[in-house]
Amino acid sequence: MKILVTGGAGYIGAVMVPRLLQAGHEVTVLDNFMYHQTALLDSCHYTSLRIVKGDTRDASLLERLVPEADAIFPLACLTGAPICDQRPQDAEEIIIDALADIIRLHRPGQRIVYPTTNSGYGVGEKGKHCTEETPLNPISLYGRLKVRAERMVLETGDGITLRLATAFGISPRMRLDLLVNDFTYKAVFDGHIELFEAHFMRNFIHVRDIAKAFQHALDNFDKMKDEPYNVGLSDANLSKKGLCEEIQKQVPTFTFSESSDAKDPDQRDYIVSNDKIEATGFRPDVTLAAGIAELIKGYTILPKVREVTTQLSNV
Ligand SMILES: NC(=O)c1ccc[n+]([C@@H]2O[C@H](COP(=O)([O-])OP(=O)(O)OC[C@H]3O[C@@H](n4cnc5c(N)ncnc54)[C@H](O)[C@@H]3O)[C@@H](O)[C@H]2O)c1
Repeated sequence: MKILVTGGAGYIGAVMVPRLLQAGHEVTVLDNFMYHQTALLDSCHYTSLRIVKGDTRDASLLERLVPEADAIFPLACLTGAPICDQRPQDAEEIIIDALADIIRLHRPGQRIVYPTTNSGYGVGEKGKHCTEETPLNPISLYGRLKVRAERMVLETGDGITLRLATAFGISPRMRLDLLVNDFTYKAVFDGHIELFEAHFMRNFIHVRDIAKAFQHALDNFDKMKDEPYNVGLSDANLSKKGLCEEIQKQVPTFTFSESSDAKDPDQRDYIVSNDKIEATGFRPDVTLAAGIAELIKGYTILPKVREVTTQLSNV
């Protein structure tokens, strides 16, 4: 299958694209490489990989690339609340306007699989799992744009949306702002963390399992289409404090304390049911503990890329 992946050199794309190539797909990546990332270098030997360095807002590029594809994964994004708040116009152009162009240029039958976030669930009801029926109530600009984008994809009649839990794990385009990655980084390099909203519950999923979920959506497209699916580890609905305790099991010298000095921009505090995607046959492979072990190993390779603070983690 010919697959167009916008933002394919990002944290998720850099893990997903090699997997798609290995499965025999022809992949075109459209990415502006805004982080000067070297992700995908080790996939350049695939003749079935084409890399287009460009902007997903460039309609002339999309006019050329969209019609050629059997499936489109629009991953290009200013990802997360802080960068969207810093660059609101770019965020809207990339998340909404470029997606609108992709949808306008696509022809019926082309498959669109779109990653959105389950942070749109905001503050969940205590003890009650959020399902795909639970109303979305995003607070940040990032969350609101992703919810709009999800609706646009589902209205095409050719789309599936994956409401991803917070990703973790090593990727060639590493993100240290994600909760598990960030806390493990601080545990390894700093030994201590101050937690805010320590009791807030979140759901997590390994980046390789996200790639697996996209393939699963592609392989089961007709059965799954026109619907959103939560994608997370069902046994990893965990508070931030619970996450720290999990990390402590592998970094025994790590300590944490609680603080009331900051707030999550999306007030994410929910437990999520992943029953709907599991009913289609999807099962994640990587446990939270395995992901933490992988991160600890990865951090012995990565240089200390930023000043670690004992301050508040923001993600
Ligand atoms: N990682 C997560 O936990 C998570 C959770 C839910 C949803 N998602 C969604 O998955 C997608 C990918 O996330 P990620 O974690 O890989 O983020 P990322 O920021 O690592 O990847 C985004 C990619 O898009 C590229 N890009 C940005 N602006 C572009 C533009 N104008 N033109 C072309 N390329 C551009 C960047 O260079 C980068 O490679 C995003 O849509 C995000 O909202 C991620």
